Amino acid sequence: MKTVDLALLGFGNVGRAFARLLLEKYEELQRDHGFKPRIVGIATGRHGVCINPQGIKLEELVEAIDSSERLDLNRFNTQTPVIDSYDFIQQVPAQVLCETTPVNPQSGLPALDFLRAGAKRGLHLITANKGPVVFGFRELTELTRQKGKLFRFESAVMDGAPIFSLFRHSLAGAQIRGFYGILNSCTNLLLERMREGESLEQAIAYGASIGITETDPSNDVDGWDAAIKVAALSNVLMGQNLTPKDVNPIGIRGITPQMIQEAEAQGKRWKLLCRGGWENGKFVCSVAPGMVSADSPLYTVDGTSSFVSFELDVLPGLGVLESDPSPKTTAFGLLSDLIDIVRTEQA
Ligand SMILES: NC(=O)c1ccc[n+]([C@@H]2O[C@H](COP(=O)([O-])OP(=O)(O)OC[C@H]3O[C@@H](n4cnc5c(N)ncnc54)[C@H](OP(=O)(O)O)[C@@H]3O)[C@@H](O)[C@H]2O)c1
Repeated sequence: MKTVDLALLGFGNVGRAFARLLLEKYEELQRDHGFKPRIVGIATGRHGVCINPQGIKLEELVEAIDSSERLDLNRFNTQTPVIDSYDFIQQVPAQVLCETTPVNPQSGLPALDFLRAGAKRGLHLITANKGPVVFGFRELTELTRQKGKLFRFESAVMDGAPIFSLFRHSLAGAQIRGFYGILNSCTNLLLERMREGESLEQAIAYGASIGITETDPSNDVDGWDAAIKVAALSNVLMGQNLTPKDVNPIGIRGITPQMIQEAEAQGKRWKLLCRGGWENGKFVCSVAPGMVSADSPLYTVDGTSSFVSFELDVLPGLGVLESDPSPKTTAFGLLSDLIDIVRTEQA
């Protein structure tokens, strides 16, 4: 049985959910996909670093995650301690680097540099981070290709829902003309709460109480998270070279409870709409609030769900709806990338 050695860079919500999923699907991966995943190293910012060439026991790792004690990954280390994340990337005896560090919507750094280092070392790359996809898609694809490796990033947009793999595999041969949808689940939830009578501030406080909005919610509320996703889809699927600034997003701060009630009275709902595509030979894209009526597929996309519809030369409309995602959904995106890498190597 083939063993695939993984290095995890970042071990927060997504990294931990990925470890749990590997344990849950350990037998299934061997039975259905012919490989055993083995975590040989984990690096974090404040929770320690470990390298163990024999593989960290998944049961013990998950037990440590679930324990009430603060996670200290140093206890799994069997090697000389590494200095920092770059040293970790050089030392860890892995075949695949899974990167899940925080997103930087301005530059993609330092995650982009971590992945550059991994590619130059000859590792396959998997990331859930939109930053390196937007700012480094072509470069990382080329760097990995030069070493006969792959760069995968299914979780970067709409968590574990298949978007990039859909175009890579099932829709190979189709030309994409445009897309529209709801790509930021946080603002979608905030608008729903406002429809139920809350102010934006109350909705943000609710979002924070359930872990959906961050302490500084401007990344979501001002449209930057949606803009980086629009840039990622445009760059990867439509050959563009956009940054989130190029998308010039308009967030939802201008939407008042009164506007929401007026829309309701007309049978409409406010949504943060994302678009990209060719219009009269020019590529245009946007993130801005807009009203949708009940006959739109976006009307019933509620809570933290998201939706994207693609217009293709061979399929006038193809929609993907992702309902109620969780870190496990994102972890599944990482797993599907891993399976894709193993399959491509075997082919
Ligand atoms: N949460 C989701 O469902 C979701 C969905 C789609 C995409 N994503 C993307 O996935 C990534 C991870 O999200 P998350 O929710 O898991 O974030 P998170 O909980 O904040 O975890 C981030 C992890 O990165 C570590 N880290 C920070 N700086 C580092 C550095 N310089 N070197 C090594 N490790 C470092 C942190 O370590 P410490 O905690 O020890 O500081 C932590 O383990 C983000 O890019 C996010 O945009 C997340």
